[in-house]
Amino acid sequence: MPETVQLIRNALDERFGEPIDADPALSGLDDLFRIAAHRVHRRYLARDISPDLLRLLCACAMSAPSKSDLQQADILIVREKATRTRITALLPEMPWILDAPVFLVFLANGRRVPMVSQMRGKPFPNDHLDLFFNAVVDTGIVLATFLRAAEAVGLGCCPISVIRDHADVVSKMLELPDKVIPVAGMCVGWPAEEGGITPRLSLSTTLHEERFNEGDLAQQLGAYDRRRAALRPYRNQRDPARFGRTDFYGWSEDKARQYAVPLRADFGAFVRAKGFHLD
Ligand SMILES: Cc1cc2nc3c(=O)[nH]c(=O)nc-3n(C[C@H](O)[C@H](O)[C@H](O)COP(=O)(O)O)c2cc1C
Repeated sequence: MPETVQLIRNALDERFGEPIDADPALSGLDDLFRIAAHRVHRRYLARDISPDLLRLLCACAMSAPSKSDLQQADILIVREKATRTRITALLPEMPWILDAPVFLVFLANGRRVPMVSQMRGKPFPNDHLDLFFNAVVDTGIVLATFLRAAEAVGLGCCPISVIRDHADVVSKMLELPDKVIPVAGMCVGWPAEEGGITPRLSLSTTLHEERFNEGDLAQQLGAYDRRRAALRPYRNQRDPARFGRTDFYGWSEDKARQYAVPLRADFGAFVRAKGFHLD
């Protein structure tokens, strides 16, 4: 059996806790292995990324499919230490933003298409939720494609959505015009450590055939919590002052605690203030 097939099986077994087969006769097994073994990296070597390499990776990312060929995703490269210092000052719990040699911001651009309509003297009766949604989805796809391209050349990445905790400040810092909003940032660097696979919910929870069917969610969550805790236990319990300490602390407890406080409740107001209509 080719070694790569075994590597894919091992990675997916660790990820999902169940055997997932891979036919050794398939082409592209190296690609599949890289995707299956994905992990974010938050620690980087003090080694730069050449502008040419970064440009290549951005071009590969922008080669992603685009809804109606509308091309509503942009990437903003932030190398300047001063800007990244200011961003990190807003997010001191994420020092990797400053440590990475490059920080990218993936932008949903809902501005260009209405401008194209205007330049071509056409009406634009589509300034509603779909404009925002399409731009954000395209941007997510470009972000994921960048990550794949970067991992293919051995770089490590960490998307950073917490910049949206300070969307208005970041937007002003980067001089984003109306209808251009940050979807997420991304630290990019040469990994300082290998990192590990984070287990995901089992495919019986998230993969549906013909009809939506999540099965017994409570039972599946319990099983996932235990499987994940065995491989990647949480180091800290979130907000013990409010929720107390539990003997067993799993993913579902962590996510329930995380979302027991309002997060980015002002994000809708920011998006509207940037000129998007969400109706
Ligand atoms: C859109 C998006 C935003 C994210 N934002 C952050 C972030 O703000 N800070 C951070 O440290 N990690 C962030 N992450 C990384 C996730 O925490 C990570 O992907 C998740 O824990 C699963 O780990 P894995 O990617 O290694 O499988 C983000 C990931 C995505 C896809």
